[in-house]
Amino acid sequence: MVSRIIPVETFDLVIFGGTGDLARRKILPGLFKRFCDGQMPVGSRIIAAARSELDLSGFQDFVVEAVEDALGTPDADQISGFVDTLDYVTIDALGEEGWADLAAKLPAFDKVRAFYFSVGPSLFEALAERLHKHGLVDTETRIVVEKPFGRDQESAKALNATLRRHFDESQIYRIDHYLGKETVQNLMAVRFGNMLFEPLWNSQYIDHIQISVAEDVGVGGRGAYYDKSGAMRDMVQNHLMQLLCLTAMEPPSFFEPDAVRDEKLKVIRALTPVEPHHIVRGQYTDSSDEVTYREDVGDPRSRTESYIALKCHVSNWRWAGTPFYLRTGKRLKARDSEINVVFKQTPHSIFGPEAGEHHNELRIQLQPDEGINLRVTIKEPGPGGMRLMDVPLDMSFAEALGEDADTPDAYERLIMDVIRGNQTLFMRDDEVEAAWAWTDPIIQGWEARHDVPKPYESFSNGPTDADLLIERDGRNWREIGR
Ligand code: BG6
Repeated sequence: MVSRIIPVETFDLVIFGGTGDLARRKILPGLFKRFCDGQMPVGSRIIAAARSELDLSGFQDFVVEAVEDALGTPDADQISGFVDTLDYVTIDALGEEGWADLAAKLPAFDKVRAFYFSVGPSLFEALAERLHKHGLVDTETRIVVEKPFGRDQESAKALNATLRRHFDESQIYRIDHYLGKETVQNLMAVRFGNMLFEPLWNSQYIDHIQISVAEDVGVGGRGAYYDKSGAMRDMVQNHLMQLLCLTAMEPPSFFEPDAVRDEKLKVIRALTPVEPHHIVRGQYTDSSDEVTYREDVGDPRSRTESYIALKCHVSNWRWAGTPFYLRTGKRLKARDSEINVVFKQTPHSIFGPEAGEHHNELRIQLQPDEGINLRVTIKEPGPGGMRLMDVPLDMSFAEALGEDADTPDAYERLIMDVIRGNQTLFMRDDEVEAAWAWTDPIIQGWEARHDVPKPYESFSNGPTDADLLIERDGRNWREIGR
């Protein structure tokens, strides 16, 4: 089998917040997997910069533990090789401590250099200033930033302005980890690599599209952050918006950063404002032994939504008349994310009314299992006339690709794209701002009306009003977790 690993150049990756939760759960285990696949050329280094007074061996122990927690016991040679690439510096993002040490570790611009800001946005300005002051960046240096990218359009613009004072847009990599998910990229492959779907991909043939991201976990230990965000800011403005863009966008002329991002931006700008009665907000409540949302966040009167369902329209020639139904929530029945493209019925049934209603449906499954499934209508087997039924043409990636189906975590792919200098799967400044421009009035409307989310039982399908939202249009949500 020919190796699919694309070599990258030697690099220095500095992770600010290198002992934080994201580094421990995602960034460091992801880098270890890339190391094992031979994607860290000799001479590449990972330098963690954080407040903790750790020495190098303390940090190395931290990394071994992080890898064990995420991936199980690693191969002894591989982990010891990986640990040799690590370095650590105690740094004060707001002061002077540690910066000279960091500068001493980066004496020359002889490798790809990237700084991962795995810290709160309030530190971005200070970090950017100090990086320049200490001569640590040149025009090729890249920085990586994480969501939340602002909490409304105004704050996102301010954050973009801060970063743009210090860096060119081509140096800024804004991560939305959904874009690194394998099936999300597959959505583009399916749409633009096959002749089969594109001619049908419009409102003439598609009845509606559902985008669902259901989680069974609650807000857990992230209550303080989450209660200030809610599902709209935490999931819809970014992850669901990206899924919507990739589903609805026009074919870009090339699979390259600005061509793809220009098309996504056009979709966001074509979204019509959402009517208040086309949105349902929910908040999880009790089930026998679980805490409620309000207990989780420690606020008995919280009005933040842990669930949202909405109907929206992309107002352009391709999509006029085809609604998009979006929903996401925590503490639902199952972890289950899927894009469902539901086609219209045939214009005339030659089989008569007894044949019933049938729709083709393309299901793009994101998690827990990745795959694509097309439902087609066939004759029910047996004698007794022409009865029709819908069956799936199934393609589970795990089955179809066998051992090659070991899908990399989104972060592995995205970090390597930073090193390669490929911004295709990262959000551009105008995209983020346009997404906020669409969500801001919705959130402001709730605030003005003192809107209270509808309660829903933990591990259910969400509030019953969300069912009504789609049933009013003569449609149904696909069932979560089936
Ligand atoms: C994060 C959100 O961006 O995505 C979390 O802040 C959410 O609230 C998570 O749980 C979901 O990511 P995934 O990859 O598990 O679907």
